[in-house]
Amino acid sequence: MTVRARAHGKIILAGEHAVVYGCPAIACPLEIGVKAGFERSGSALRLNVDGAEISGEIASPLAEAFRLLRAEAANLGVGGRLLAGSESPPGFGLGWSASFSLAASRALLGGGEAVENQALELAARLEQVFHGRASGIDLRTAASATPLRFRRTADGVEVISFQPEKPIHAVLAGQKPSLTRDMVEQVRQFRDQAPEEVERIFLAIAKLVPRAEAYFRLGLVDELGLTLTANHALLRKLKVSTPELDELTERALSAGAAGAKLTGAGGGGCIIAVASEERIPAIHSALEKQAPFVRSVRLGAAFAQPA
Ligand code: PMV
Repeated sequence: MTVRARAHGKIILAGEHAVVYGCPAIACPLEIGVKAGFERSGSALRLNVDGAEISGEIASPLAEAFRLLRAEAANLGVGGRLLAGSESPPGFGLGWSASFSLAASRALLGGGEAVENQALELAARLEQVFHGRASGIDLRTAASATPLRFRRTADGVEVISFQPEKPIHAVLAGQKPSLTRDMVEQVRQFRDQAPEEVERIFLAIAKLVPRAEAYFRLGLVDELGLTLTANHALLRKLKVSTPELDELTERALSAGAAGAKLTGAGGGGCIIAVASEERIPAIHSALEKQAPFVRSVRLGAAFAQPA
């Protein structure tokens, strides 16, 4: 018998990076994530991701995650074959690692509500392997059916889920992958070198987040767009954007987007552009000329496919 599980991908609408240091952020689950299947057998755990067998012997975050899963399986006294399949591209800021971590943990532990807390706990340890000093926002969003506001607090995290009045139309576009842990480390070093400058940027980002949330909840796409574009300018000051990401945001704005920003860690990965529905096809085709990954999505819409 195969135990099947899924977890959502995600986008960060506002507040990335600052969220690692206690500022709030708004994230939204995406229907595309990672699916996993676990076929139990007598042998030690094996892991296959997108058709490739993962060796636990090499130095890579995925191999390290596999070693953790293998140890967990041995502790549980189970073995077999864990198959993971990506619906979203890894490294594009769409929460692949959190989605993989949660889908794999759910499948290994048997799936269902009864093991959900245990799966979240194991997934958090896996996510730490991929992300280093992660805020935990990706994992919470991978497990959520609705958008949420997330904040790290002294004694844990505060997560407020909400359902917007209507979905917001958006286009995601990405050119090349990047490593979240490297970008988080880059921001940490920048903060060590220029603490006041970075605190000012974080404070400005933290002021935008409640506005982004309110506009998202009310379906006010023009106001939301301006807020996202302002957030992108601050992420540029934080030095996590790239000329390619800036160009994609410019292209989206020229094609009629209400606003655009990089989403996630930056250094590569994706931008998100929001717009009224009738402008989406033009933005989609403008971005397709420049980016190999382009996807039109509806943020805050109910999913056809549950996690
Ligand atoms: O996984 P990404 O690329 O969406 O980045 C996660 C968001 C960061 O704020 C950059 C890191 C974190 O753990 O919150």
